[in-house]
Amino acid sequence: MNSEELLRSGELPEEEITRVENRWVLVVCAVTLLLIATFASSVALFHDAPPSSVETIQSNQIHQSGEFVESNLGTAMQPDGSAVVRMVLQQFSFSPSIIKVPVNTSVVFRAVSADVVHGFLVEGTNVNAMVVPGYVTTLQTEFKRPGEYLVPCQEFCGMGHQDMWAKLIVGSKADYPVDPTGQTRF
Ligand code: CUA
Repeated sequence: MNSEELLRSGELPEEEITRVENRWVLVVCAVTLLLIATFASSVALFHDAPPSSVETIQSNQIHQSGEFVESNLGTAMQPDGSAVVRMVLQQFSFSPSIIKVPVNTSVVFRAVSADVVHGFLVEGTNVNAMVVPGYVTTLQTEFKRPGEYLVPCQEFCGMGHQDMWAKLIVGSKADYPVDPTGQTRF
C-alpha cells in the first residue's frame, strides 16, 4: 500500500502525517517569502510602489472648474524643472490628444476620467495606469529616448475603445523653458 491508500484506510502513522504537514508548511512559507521578495525587488529595481495617497475628484465637474479645466491640460513646467502632465480621458478620446514632454526630465502624469474606467500606457515603457472615475491617477516617470510613442487606452471602455489613443512626443529639454507666470502649457 502506498501512503495515500494507508491514509484512506486510516492506517497512516501519525508521524507520517506530521511529516507531510510540516513539508507543506515549508512550501507555504517559501511561497510567501518568494512573493515578499518579488515585491521588494520590484520596488528596488523598477521603482514600483503602491500608491502613497488617494486623491478623489468629482468626475462630473472636472470640465467646469479646478485643476482639470481645458486651459490647464497638457504639460506644465514646474519651477524645479520637472514637468506635470494633466489629462482627461473620456469615451473615446484623450485631452490633450498629443502630449509633449522633455527628455531626461521628471514627468508626473495626473489623469482623470470624465466617465468610465479608462487606462493609458506608453508603448515600450513601464508607464501603465488605470484611470478610475472619481480618482486622480498620479504616476511619475522619466523618458530617456526622444521620439514619438503611441499611448492607447488599455481598459475596455465601450464600443470606441480601440479608437481611443493619444500620442506622446518626447523632445529636447531646451524647448521646455520654465514660465515664471506658470501659465504656459505644452
Ligand atoms: Cu478608454 Cu478604452
